[in-house]
Amino acid sequence: PAPPVVAVDGPAASGKGTLARRLAKQFDFAYLDTGKLYRAVGMKVVRSGGDPEDEDAAEAAARALDISELEDPALSGDDAASAASKVAAIPGVRAALLEFQRTFAAVPPDGKPGAVLDGRDIGTVIAPDATVKLFATASVEVRADRRHKELINRGEASIYAHVLEELKARDARDMNRAAAPLVAASDAVVLDTSDLGIDEAFAAALRIVEGPV
Ligand code: C5P
Repeated sequence: PAPPVVAVDGPAASGKGTLARRLAKQFDFAYLDTGKLYRAVGMKVVRSGGDPEDEDAAEAAARALDISELEDPALSGDDAASAASKVAAIPGVRAALLEFQRTFAAVPPDGKPGAVLDGRDIGTVIAPDATVKLFATASVEVRADRRHKELINRGEASIYAHVLEELKARDARDMNRAAAPLVAASDAVVLDTSDLGIDEAFAAALRIVEGPV
């Protein structure tokens, strides 16, 4: 039988990363943050002096990506996020990253069955037959507030209004692109975390995943 796959999708700062990581720990499944792939491609292009909207440069960077490049701490920053959402709109970039993600889901790296993947198109494109699909969401104001506080806690300068504008721009790019736009799969369970703390959100996610997995 195919190993269980948990697909966790949702917009930026919806809590999907934290939920996915905790679910993986709970079930002892492998975990893949697919956003890191796009972030790494975006940063690779920017660092070489290129434009993340340049299709040829972005596609070449995606093809040349090595998993060792996913450990770079700079990938968590907003520059990487912005570059990621630009390269992510390019079909050739998505195609270059597809097989790695599908293989991860089918044959998790440590050989143990079971994988949790989080991103934007896991339930729709990467793993349409996933065992269970969770779509985490929250209002854009709540997401901006969480992101703003996270930056402040890390000791970085942050202005709420600026974070809100950046999130809105990234949402628009992710939802309106032609290639694998951000949308809940028709068979995904939507979890709105706007009014939930992280423990409450995790408890809700666990209830959704525990049935099928
Ligand atoms: O999830 P994260 O915020 O790290 O993703 C960064 C960007 O990468 C997203 O805004 C999106 O444009 C892109 N992405 C994607 N498909 C995925 C994961 C991320 O298009 N599966």
